[in-house]
Amino acid sequence: MAAVTAAAGARYDAIGRTYGRTRREDPHVAAQVHAALGDARTIVNVGAGSGSYEPADRAVVAVEPSVQMIRQRAGRPAPVVRGVAEALPFADGSFDLALAVLTAHHWTDAAAGLGELARVAARQVVLYFEPLRNRDFWAIEYFPAALDLPSEIDPPGERLLAEHLDLHEVRPVLVPRDCLDGFGVAFWARPEAYLDPDVQSGMSWLAMLPADDLARGTAALRADLASGAWDRRHGHLRTEDVYDGGYRLALAG
Ligand SMILES: C[S@@+](CC[C@H](N)C(=O)[O-])C[C@H]1O[C@@H](n2cnc3c(N)ncnc32)[C@H](O)[C@@H]1O
Repeated sequence: MAAVTAAAGARYDAIGRTYGRTRREDPHVAAQVHAALGDARTIVNVGAGSGSYEPADRAVVAVEPSVQMIRQRAGRPAPVVRGVAEALPFADGSFDLALAVLTAHHWTDAAAGLGELARVAARQVVLYFEPLRNRDFWAIEYFPAALDLPSEIDPPGERLLAEHLDLHEVRPVLVPRDCLDGFGVAFWARPEAYLDPDVQSGMSWLAMLPADDLARGTAALRADLASGAWDRRHGHLRTEDVYDGGYRLALAG
């Protein structure tokens, strides 16, 4: 399993170097995640990364394969175990709740990972994106090669979650216009941000693109912003408050 962990960690060891520059908790998203935790006292946060959305008032254990991401947890009180979702190193029923935030689309075997969440915890809370909704996002027009990335081809959505968890509620997580966490769709109303190399390297769907696809899309977006073409097509978004980018919070168990 050490080899599997190393392979899973390698991706974020490479692309996670600048994670902390643009990725941090958004308070609106955090409020929804924390509300979903209910009265759970013991939580395992799987694919924990730098620790965003970990509640400070519960006993949390983090699981994360990337050393680079673990280094960026400075100041987080939760102990970290280096490992992967597909083989959690805990006995059955060790936790009240398993949390997985924006990570399941990176798992090599999402079905096995979901099975592990259900094995080690009585309840599960998973923040994920619904693939079909996500494909409607305007930025895909500029970076269509992203749809061919392993993490985006068939990411786990409600159908897979329902197959492997006792799923009882799916809540939409609308993205605020000023979202603080620079995840994939965060800048839906601030298109200029998608030209910024730090923003690009903080979201895996752009960070993992072949360099020429990234350069071509960036140039096309820059030109459309300069000519006003982007605003003619999507400018109405600039004044909207929230956007449904397909993010969903699954409550199970
Ligand atoms: C987009 S980051 C999300 C991190 C954190 N949950 C957050 O919301 O900021 C995805 C994380 O999943 C981790 N990951 C990748 N493959 C994994 C696997 N098989 N099991 C567990 N975590 C994995 C990555 O190393 C990375 O830290």
